[in-house]
Amino acid sequence: MTPADRVRELRSEIERHNRLYYVDNSPEIDDREYDRLMKELEVLEREHPELDDPLSPTHRVGSDLSGGFTQVVHERPMLSLGNTYSLGEVNDWVERCNEALGNAGGLLSVPIVGEMKFDGTSISLIYEGGRLVRALTRGDGVKGDDVTANVKTIRSIPLVLEPGGDWPERFEIRGEIVLPWAAFERLNAERAFNEEPLFANPRNAAAGTLKMLNTPEVARRGLDAYFYYLLSDQLPADNHYDNMLKARSWGFKVSEVMTLLESTDAVDEFIGYWDKERRNLPVATDGLVFKVNSLRQQLNLGFTAKSPRWAIAYKFAAERALTRLRFVSFEVGRTGVVTPVANLEPVLLSGTVVKRASLHNADIIRNLGIHEEDMLYVEKGGEIIPKITGVDLDARRPDSREVEFVKTCPSCGTELVREPGEAAWICPNKWGCRPQIIGRIEHFVGRHAMDLDGIGDENCAMLYDAGLVGNIADFYRLRVEDIERLDGMGYRSAVKIVDGIKASLGVPFERVLYALSIPYVGETISRKIARAVGSIDRLMAMSPEEIQAIDDVGPSIAASIKEYFGHEGNRAIIERLREAGVQLSMAEQDMSGLTDLLGGKTFVISGVFSRHSRDEYKALIEKNGGKNSGSISKKTDYVLAGENMGPAKLEKAQKLGVPIIDENEFLAMIGE
Ligand code: IVH
Repeated sequence: MTPADRVRELRSEIERHNRLYYVDNSPEIDDREYDRLMKELEVLEREHPELDDPLSPTHRVGSDLSGGFTQVVHERPMLSLGNTYSLGEVNDWVERCNEALGNAGGLLSVPIVGEMKFDGTSISLIYEGGRLVRALTRGDGVKGDDVTANVKTIRSIPLVLEPGGDWPERFEIRGEIVLPWAAFERLNAERAFNEEPLFANPRNAAAGTLKMLNTPEVARRGLDAYFYYLLSDQLPADNHYDNMLKARSWGFKVSEVMTLLESTDAVDEFIGYWDKERRNLPVATDGLVFKVNSLRQQLNLGFTAKSPRWAIAYKFAAERALTRLRFVSFEVGRTGVVTPVANLEPVLLSGTVVKRASLHNADIIRNLGIHEEDMLYVEKGGEIIPKITGVDLDARRPDSREVEFVKTCPSCGTELVREPGEAAWICPNKWGCRPQIIGRIEHFVGRHAMDLDGIGDENCAMLYDAGLVGNIADFYRLRVEDIERLDGMGYRSAVKIVDGIKASLGVPFERVLYALSIPYVGETISRKIARAVGSIDRLMAMSPEEIQAIDDVGPSIAASIKEYFGHEGNRAIIERLREAGVQLSMAEQDMSGLTDLLGGKTFVISGVFSRHSRDEYKALIEKNGGKNSGSISKKTDYVLAGENMGPAKLEKAQKLGVPIIDENEFLAMIGE
């Protein structure tokens, strides 16, 4: 067998297993065997670059995004659906279809397909010769963003269809990109841990993820896709249902919920069943969709300006409950932000008991106009996080007063402060406020930070209250004798903790920087900064302007870093960490290939490149001592321009006389 044959065989084999795993949920091989196939393909592709194919399964996780998104006009506009909210309205619609098609009411001479309405973000895929050529978002319905690179990371989407299948030479398939509940909860848990804003629902998370410029991160988040509409000049069947079954046979994920409904009773039953059962689906849904099955009948019914007459959405009622506010508590987080929380009389909502709901900040309380002991509306729509959406004014007690945001810290009593333009009130007593100190200690210990074995959140509070760990540097002087005396500890758990602390001396600088709890400096930013500056000493010596020149670092992050290192207490902690042997600079091997060829020159990247991805160019600029900036100004030294550079940028660069170089010129500058 020639390498080309083997490569072909491996690709179709891997795609088949992808499909068995991601679409059919019935894998035939285990992960290890799958990885072995993948490895073999990777090796062959490396040895035979001429056999490479951008749609090979090895490229599902790439970083070759063109940055920004190109807008492309849809071949057929992407319309929306008319909404209905009751069984009666759905029945009216069925009747209208019947009448329009010249059928007498009553009997369903218009068979209907019932489907789930997935609550994600819509996508249109174009296939030519069985290969995915383009993926567009809905955009404004007429044109959408080209998100092909991100869509390629979704493993349930076939990139290349099985050769010889009965798919049309050219077709479009539309569906919904979703973030399944499990992936959504995981993502939000991570974000909560990093004190990043949470996604309100899987729809926002899916849409936000699909538009990210960081393809590996998209791949990591676990998007999925369901398909519900096939378009082509050569459709396999004369009805929607059979076309979707075909699409399923070609490897697309078509929901098992899809049902052919041949009587009005069947429609009623379908609604009744899924109104309850939808809660057991792995993805968020906000209703059902009904479609006339026959394509000929669809054609006769046609479209209004906004939506097809042959389809309608039935929206599930957002679940809402009314309950009494017991009191508002104010909770202090690791960075000092004070969050108001509504403590409620327990109430049942979408199958769970709700007792608490975050009110987020003072503005939200004021906008809702909440008074003490008000009756509040709590909603959980498709969302798992309960949300206060309103007040029942009729139920307000006559003497009740407006809820006031605390003026002082509920934990330490310090007067709260608020930065101009920010919604959050903050307790500035970083060094004396117990929840903040313990929060920072817990963060330091966490899995993404120093990952200290054997210590959980409960132990952090205990170590702090016992006077053993007052700040993060104190971990490095803990002794087995100190720990084993504590409640619930013993010799063995104490040894485990001390060993874990020793092992943390190997944690790389980028995670140490994250572990320090510098406000606004999350995991990604820490990594970028650590790689750009190489050591804590260099970072401490940098001006805010220099720090801001690091990719993705804005003025508030730079100011926060300066403030952190400006504090004597923090500097003392850093010195003690250094003495203990914690990594405060990047190891040699992480920094290899660094030069100063670009000597502090500032670059702005624009357009699409062919020899490296945008991200790779950014990294090359930093590795060679240059800086990246997002916008052109007098301070820009070069614009690195690819194809399709934005006209506004071009004009600005020309006006300011900034030299524009292409990728070959750039690569020559760094000797590549
Ligand atoms: S059919 C021309 N079917 O709902 C008809 N749409 O409110 C095209 N959606 O933009 C849409 N599940 O993003 C259809 N089973 C389903 C759907 C569905 C979710 C979304 C889709 C559409 C929106 C309209």
